[in-house]
Amino acid sequence: MGTTTFELFSKEYKAIIETEIIEYVKKLQAPAVVKEAMAYSLEAGGKRIRPLLVFAVLEAFGENLRRGIAAASAIEMIHTYSLIHDDLPAMDDDDLRRGKPTNHKVFGEAVAVLAGDALLTYSFQLISGMSEPGVTAEMKLALVDEIAKSAGVEGMVGGQVADMEGEGKQLTIQELEYIHEHKTGKLLTASVISGAILSGANEEQLQHLRNFSYHLGLAFQIRDDILDIEGSVELIGKPVGSDEGNHKSTYPSLLTLQGAKDKLEHHIGLAHASLSKTALETGLLNELTDLIANRDH
Ligand code: FPP
Ligand code: MG
Repeated sequence: MGTTTFELFSKEYKAIIETEIIEYVKKLQAPAVVKEAMAYSLEAGGKRIRPLLVFAVLEAFGENLRRGIAAASAIEMIHTYSLIHDDLPAMDDDDLRRGKPTNHKVFGEAVAVLAGDALLTYSFQLISGMSEPGVTAEMKLALVDEIAKSAGVEGMVGGQVADMEGEGKQLTIQELEYIHEHKTGKLLTASVISGAILSGANEEQLQHLRNFSYHLGLAFQIRDDILDIEGSVELIGKPVGSDEGNHKSTYPSLLTLQGAKDKLEHHIGLAHASLSKTALETGLLNELTDLIANRDH
């Protein structure tokens, strides 16, 4: 099989974001230890799905992809901060993330908390400081608004709190969906909408892209739950079977494994349908969607 356009795109833009995001950290005038802790988790790998979504949306609009570097980096920084804090003893108390010792295991809890705080605040500095040609003050304000809402208490933080409150309880499917839509889905949506804002999307396109992101986010999480049962430790970089061990409500536990797989198909179908309504060049976004549905890590 030849290399697809998507494979070329993801390889190229993964490399770009991984270089640029570290450059942003290097530029900071700050104590070395916090810069090292920020860089440690940014460099720990990861699929870079959120940055790739920003770039794939710009591509769909025929925009210059380099316009998305700051926003894509900002969102990846927020994602990374959330993982650092999620792994802390006060939250999930995990020793391993992406196959490596977690941030607090290497730098200590206090520095890990502050590295997370620094990534979150720096992300907004990157947005306000954007100076790419064609990026207007209105666009920057819209990015701040979208990303702040998605990361904040009406988004990821709210989802995380609901997740903590649901621990050890049998949740309804609606409660489980609220958690995932907020904890994971909102930042994925922010990635898509950021690409759209930077492309000057109209209201109708934004709405179809929001619908797309909603289904993509749930599909992403259902796949995560399935991988916790069927996945390989080597590929995922964390133990499998942890959800069952922690008595967590998951799609397979509420719907059976087959039921979860059917629901995944359902959301992937609706994600593609939403994309087709945008009338944009959505080849890369379609491939990214299938990749999320079939990913093994
Ligand atoms: C894996 O993403 C991460 C998620 C599915 C999100 C989990 C959400 C939290 C931990 C929110 C925590 C919030 C706070 C405020 C502490 P991924 O599969 O893209 O990971 P990768 O970057 O390693 O590929
Ligand atoms: Mg957690």
